Amino acid sequence: MKIIIDTDPGQDDAVAILLALASPELNVLGITAVAGNVPLDLTARNARIVCELAGRKDVPVFAGCERPLTRDLVTAEHVHGKTGLDGVELRDPKMPLADGHAVDFIVDTLCREPPGSVTLCPLGPLTNIATALRRAPDITSRIARIVLMGGAYFEVGNITPAAEFNIYVDPEAAKAVFAAGIPLTVVPLDCTHKALTTRARNDAIRGLGNRVGDVVAAWTGFFERFDKEKYGSEGAPLHDPLVIAWLLRPDLFTGREINVEIEADSDLTRGMTVADWWGVTDREPNALFLGDVDADGFFAMLTERLARL
Ligand code: BDR
Ligand code: CA
Repeated sequence: MKIIIDTDPGQDDAVAILLALASPELNVLGITAVAGNVPLDLTARNARIVCELAGRKDVPVFAGCERPLTRDLVTAEHVHGKTGLDGVELRDPKMPLADGHAVDFIVDTLCREPPGSVTLCPLGPLTNIATALRRAPDITSRIARIVLMGGAYFEVGNITPAAEFNIYVDPEAAKAVFAAGIPLTVVPLDCTHKALTTRARNDAIRGLGNRVGDVVAAWTGFFERFDKEKYGSEGAPLHDPLVIAWLLRPDLFTGREINVEIEADSDLTRGMTVADWWGVTDREPNALFLGDVDADGFFAMLTERLARL
């Protein structure tokens, strides 16, 4: 399966990229960086660090949009640290950025590849994706599916009481993506909050004894401090890798085909994903909204895949 990963690394984005690069079922055509957890220069740097860590300098990394469609950028250094990949000392990458803008890469790739053969995997704010749809509306029908991490219903918000971070940062972009009529799988907090980095799971990853295992365990050890304190849980949700996991093992997940609308206007609830989980409206379903994951199955797969790198 051909995929493009659109991302704002972020430790959990980094683990998602590693999982994808470790999986022979997936052909990562390119990685497009967007501003989100940290500013664009850092997310574009971090994506290349991750490729080098996986020994995959051949995967092109493109820099994309440096700010949301209409708003100022909101970042999350309070979770991910100043670099976005705090937790372990990492050298600047040697591989250069690929030439050209991430949005052009997305558009050109979708126009070049057979229709319905490329899946987009956004792990951050949806600015690059919405910009591509705006610039070249013809790509809409060529996208196989968008599988994204974002939103929440029962878990509600993590950056405000009502909103999840990725959707909150660029709600106008999210609105455009959810309204585009493209097959959509949404991995919300409802699902990711069930996949916690417990001590035993971290130990198993550290115990791989390879460089990737050490780095991933250092990353999870760093960012989980914030959520453990906030939620009083024994670990932190490992959000973004669940997008890749769904591509590999959809049988690990359950969810519902429902209507999901994005609130972009209200100051109080901006970025809220209004998910009709109970089917109380007659609005047409536009997304497979995941609600649960077999967390042990997911971490077993992740650990087994990271061992290959
Ligand atoms: C999302 O926000 C970011 O901090 C994470 O990388 C993830 O994509 C979770 O709300
Ligand atoms: Ca992310």
